[in-house]
Amino acid sequence: MLYLFRIIKNKYICILISTKIMERIGLFFGSDTGCTDDFTKDFIEEWGAEDIDVKEIGDATIEDFNQYKVMILGLSTWYDGDLQSDWESFFEDFKTIDFTGKIVSIYGLGDQIGYGEYFVDGIGILGEVILNNGGTVIGYWPTEGYRFSDSVAIVKENENLFYGLAIDNDNESQLTEQRLRKWVIQVKTELKMALLKEHQLAV
Ligand SMILES: Cc1cc2nc3c(=O)[nH]c(=O)nc-3n(C[C@H](O)[C@H](O)[C@H](O)COP(=O)(O)O)c2cc1C
Repeated sequence: MLYLFRIIKNKYICILISTKIMERIGLFFGSDTGCTDDFTKDFIEEWGAEDIDVKEIGDATIEDFNQYKVMILGLSTWYDGDLQSDWESFFEDFKTIDFTGKIVSIYGLGDQIGYGEYFVDGIGILGEVILNNGGTVIGYWPTEGYRFSDSVAIVKENENLFYGLAIDNDNESQLTEQRLRKWVIQVKTELKMALLKEHQLAV
């Protein structure tokens, strides 16, 4: 019975992955020294660019955010737990955005060895605003396998998860590709399930 359930579940996930996402997605990212920029290019390639609009957060406005129901946010963390500088400049505006009905996933770059007390804090800083402002965050990612002592990115109700994908190209660049691949499949699946659920509730 359990075996049958697993087959049906896997088949369901395959169907979900192969169907197209009908929403356009807004991807907003910021990068100080180019690492998040490079990762964003890899992300877009892995995702398949056709349904994504990409904007640097330094050029973004609140209206840009208001256009999208589905968003992906990318950033790095700097100076002991601070947001990447362009995100920092935009943060007061970001806090005023109404995320009700919006679905957001976050990826963040950081350095778990050099800044182990503040590892990818930026993911958590953005995640908390989205949740406080009524949004849904998808793409939570296991903390297992990382070496750090503390992080604002840890989910409040579950210390085994980050609010988004943590990438450490300073120490573990060899793991980035597989983390990215896995996360893209996870986010696409969760996104389709969330949209499907909304559609079912609406009919
Ligand atoms: C001065 C300095 C401060 C940093 N502070 C943090 C930090 O608090 N937390 C963290 O996880 N990473 C920290 N990092 C690591 C960066 O986030 C990491 O190198 C990232 O890949 C940079 O991405 P970017 O070039 O897109 O900004 C810091 C790096 C430097 C050089």
